[in-house]
Amino acid sequence: MLKGKKILIGVCGSIAAYKTATLIRLLVKQQAEVQVIITDAAADFISPLTLATLSKKPVLKHYTANSETGEWNNHVALGLWADLMLIAPATAHTLAKMASGLCDNLLMAAYLSARCPVAVAPAMDLDMWHHPATQRNISRLQADGCYVIPPGEGELASGLSGKGRMAEPEQIAQWLSLFFTASNWLKGKNVLLTAGPTIEPIDPVRYITNHSTGKMGYALAQAFADAGASVRLISGPVSLQLLHPLVQITPVHTARQMHQAVMERLSQADIIVHCAAVADYAPAQIAPQKIKKQEERLTLDLVKNPDIAAEAGQRLQWHQVHAGFALETDHEEANAHQKMLRKNFDLIVLNSLNQKGAGFGHDTNRVTLLFRDGKREDLPLLPKNEVARIIVQHLTQLLQTKSHVV
Ligand code: PMT
Repeated sequence: MLKGKKILIGVCGSIAAYKTATLIRLLVKQQAEVQVIITDAAADFISPLTLATLSKKPVLKHYTANSETGEWNNHVALGLWADLMLIAPATAHTLAKMASGLCDNLLMAAYLSARCPVAVAPAMDLDMWHHPATQRNISRLQADGCYVIPPGEGELASGLSGKGRMAEPEQIAQWLSLFFTASNWLKGKNVLLTAGPTIEPIDPVRYITNHSTGKMGYALAQAFADAGASVRLISGPVSLQLLHPLVQITPVHTARQMHQAVMERLSQADIIVHCAAVADYAPAQIAPQKIKKQEERLTLDLVKNPDIAAEAGQRLQWHQVHAGFALETDHEEANAHQKMLRKNFDLIVLNSLNQKGAGFGHDTNRVTLLFRDGKREDLPLLPKNEVARIIVQHLTQLLQTKSHVV
């Protein structure tokens, strides 16, 4: 997938720089052309000779290549040469410089000159990563069009454990392959998608939730991104990971948080899909302390959560495609049909808990697609990623139809 791709890699001063050596090896093995720029601090962590040997090109560090002859490294040409610029590891300091447009070394000059897409793979200690200043810089860079390959969780060089480790070289290489292979059907289109369960706290240690694992929703996010769409995935708590250049995940816990995250982004979406299993009710009060075991019976007072899909359906603009899921145990088609009308869906995907291998948790699903115009399609039991691919095809067609009817 990376054959012939020109990748400009910036390496900053972090212990994670040792992983960049493996990354370069993986990319060169896939026949990508790699040019490395390092900062002064990076050279303290990894030898330029190692990176030059692996990339098969001299490593660039300063503006001047040879001060005696006046030979210089042309940062503008580097920015034009690359199909993609990747800064890995990207330190908190370099992210801050990128966010404010500072230009104090060759790497920053190449970044500011780059006309190609730019991605960063941050690496730092967990408190640095969670610091509001770093998060502000990350948001700023995303708003500037930079892709962020999120750091992973685990043991850190400080001995602490948490989020901040640079993504593994294999994950970054796969991210790059996905970046270059995304098809173009939905290029430039924005998809807003919900996935997973919501959890509704009862007290500081307990909550109400359901069995959704997020597998169906994450498969959809992947399928939309593979079709070239920019996906905003509003995800309830799940143990899945999705590293895709076109997918940005907003994690939420409760239905109210999911509602807010969806409403904030609704107007910019071309396709909206509600795959999350949203709790219909939440405790009226969250007990501030753990509820003690005293009485024989305990009654929870619940209040209705906002119906996210119904509200989105009311606010829908003519060009937007709106779809949802129905998980039913009885009167399946009739209930799904009513939901489609009530929530103003163009398509509802019906999955039943009565079908083996369908619904929560499985890697497979068996669904019936019910369309607003009365059409239906019964799919056999399929892997969730295949179901997702078929749903994306249908939604793409619906989007095309809507944009032709002006
Ligand atoms: O996550 P997995 O383990 O892979 O399982 C996948 C799934 C079974 C969760 C998924 O395929 C699915 O069916 N999701 C929707 C489940 C559901 O909550 O259905 P519902 O019939 O209660 O809701 C109908 C639609 O309204 C859904 O699109 C739902 O997201 C939406 N809704 C519901 C309630 C609410 N308050 N707000 C909503 O937006």
